Amino acid sequence: MRHLIDIIDLSVEEINELITTAEDIIANPTKYAEVCHGKKLATLFFEPSTRTRLSFEAAMLDLGGRTLGFSDASTSSAAKGETVGDTVQVVSGYADIIAMRHPKEGAPYAATQVSSIPVINAGDGGHNHPTQTLTDLLTIHREFGHLDNLTIGFCGDLKFGRTVHSLVTALCRYENIKFIFISPPELKIPDYLKENVLDAQGKDYVEVESMEDAMPQLDILYMTRVQKERFFNEADYLRLRDTYILDPEKLSTAKPEMRVLHPLPRVNEITVDVDKDPRACYFRQAANGKFVRMALIMKLLEVHA
Ligand code: NCD
Repeated sequence: MRHLIDIIDLSVEEINELITTAEDIIANPTKYAEVCHGKKLATLFFEPSTRTRLSFEAAMLDLGGRTLGFSDASTSSAAKGETVGDTVQVVSGYADIIAMRHPKEGAPYAATQVSSIPVINAGDGGHNHPTQTLTDLLTIHREFGHLDNLTIGFCGDLKFGRTVHSLVTALCRYENIKFIFISPPELKIPDYLKENVLDAQGKDYVEVESMEDAMPQLDILYMTRVQKERFFNEADYLRLRDTYILDPEKLSTAKPEMRVLHPLPRVNEITVDVDKDPRACYFRQAANGKFVRMALIMKLLEVHA
């Protein structure tokens, strides 16, 4: 039985296969409409979500399966003090696969220790978010036609932004990726990511503070929200939240074929008038999330079209 807790649980070949399957699902949706007939996905969301939970549910429905779950820990027995391990053991008896989001780093991994069905990490605290990474990789592949030879700027909250951590880890395994990390000093990428992932693999990266200086070099600008819920005090959040605001003027020095990605939700780090620029692809990115999750559910349930 396979789980997906960290993006490195998948080999590069497996990631590429998931992207190929997702692109085939987009081209031939009816071929996949019943492959999960009789199967159930449980969504255990101990933390807020719109895209991740609904795209998982839409993915299972579009595969002909069904879904159950909760979207708020306060309506589950967690509110009575039940442990994640006990909840997961129980849900293992009701469903065929679990997608779990939890504010504590490592909670989905702990779930794998007691689960008798596959567990997918749908975001654990400020740590990892591997299915957002699959969404991002599918998006880059659909927009550029390749996943190598790219300069990518990650901008905003690189400390707490779990989507950044997982995507950087994944892109390190593709050829000739240059990373530009754009953040205030307080929100730099964590040391463990630098030491264990980037430096360990001899990757080419720089850390800068100016979005404007980096802009002309970029093939991809990956914007992120400052992660309010991970801050210890509100004053720091308020001081840092508006450090970067992408607007049409700042975009004027970008390459015409650059793409702006954002895992969403956006707060105010991208002004709405950027949305009509063809380089803005965050809503296409959100749509891609359903297709790659369909491919992932099929893989973990070992079903085929
Ligand atoms: C992200 C997350 O939950 O980490 N959202 C998502 O899943 N698309 C990004 C965020 O919350 O800022």
